[in-house]
Amino acid sequence: MATPQVHGPGGRRSADTVSRVSGTLTTEAVEAATVRSNEISAELRRDPSAFRVLTGERTTGALHVGHYFGSLRNRVALQDMGVDIFLILADYQALTDHDASKELSQSVFDIVLDYLGIGIDPARSTIFVHNASPALNQLLLPFLSVVSMSELHRNPTVKDEIAHSGRGSVSGLMMTYPVHQAADILFCHGNLVPGGRDQLPHLEVTRDVARRINRLYFEEPYFPEPELLMGEVPLLLGLDGPKMGKSMGNAIYLHTSADETARLIKRAKTDSDRRITFDPEHRPEVSNLVQIISLCEGSDPHVVAEEIGAGGAVELKRRLTETLN
Ligand code: TRP
Repeated sequence: MATPQVHGPGGRRSADTVSRVSGTLTTEAVEAATVRSNEISAELRRDPSAFRVLTGERTTGALHVGHYFGSLRNRVALQDMGVDIFLILADYQALTDHDASKELSQSVFDIVLDYLGIGIDPARSTIFVHNASPALNQLLLPFLSVVSMSELHRNPTVKDEIAHSGRGSVSGLMMTYPVHQAADILFCHGNLVPGGRDQLPHLEVTRDVARRINRLYFEEPYFPEPELLMGEVPLLLGLDGPKMGKSMGNAIYLHTSADETARLIKRAKTDSDRRITFDPEHRPEVSNLVQIISLCEGSDPHVVAEEIGAGGAVELKRRLTETLN
């Protein structure tokens, strides 16, 4: 496996990502990461071969249109620009959820099919799983040795996930998964990770691990210090109102057939206001459907709403079905 050079000032130490006082992401860190991410986007266009991207997902089931517009579409774009892409199907990370862990092989299979369906090309991009990569998992132990308990406890993304899980106790796997992610990234010598701001604390862990291991065990830097390619992800609602989720029964999956998609959209929740407008705050369900149309068509949601206007929910659903299929 060729090892790409870390591009740009990869070793630069930015301001602390996480406030030591509040334990949340600092505005400065998000702003600095946004500026850096814009520089990286320009570098990517100039020289895509300088980057190796590592990203992926926990194998908790097949992927839906929220995933597509949130991250998958962007991966295909990176691949087609000539960036080297590694996609981890994080089955060992799915073990944090004991229900999902019963269907791991089926999930891996479904996600690989989704990847192929959207245009990930296995001749150019590498898809792999934890359970078939013992050397990756083996890195977890030395990596854990350079991370302190207080660093693990401070990670705001992990804290949020724990708070939302509503569980009384937190497993060691859950607490340490950012370090496992560091193993995913550094195992591949990835130097770029696409993601939202919630990935910033994880990237900081990865960079800290890389720097500490390099200092402890290598004369020359062996692991790159990866950076975040920030993309703010549109939050799609499910067809019934709440966030589109794998386990919520409100998603349109990538594998959903055209007929089934039409049927699901027919049942989607709208409201009693006949005229279609784009107003996410006051009309979340209608605006969500407008937003999916605009994501598919690459058009402005206000313009889409204006065009449908008096056509009402019937025209909204007709156009959504057509464009999504
Ligand atoms: N944790 C990510 C998710 O839940 C998936 C993932 C695993 C990942 N390893 C990674 C993402 C490394 C970025 C980099 O979707």
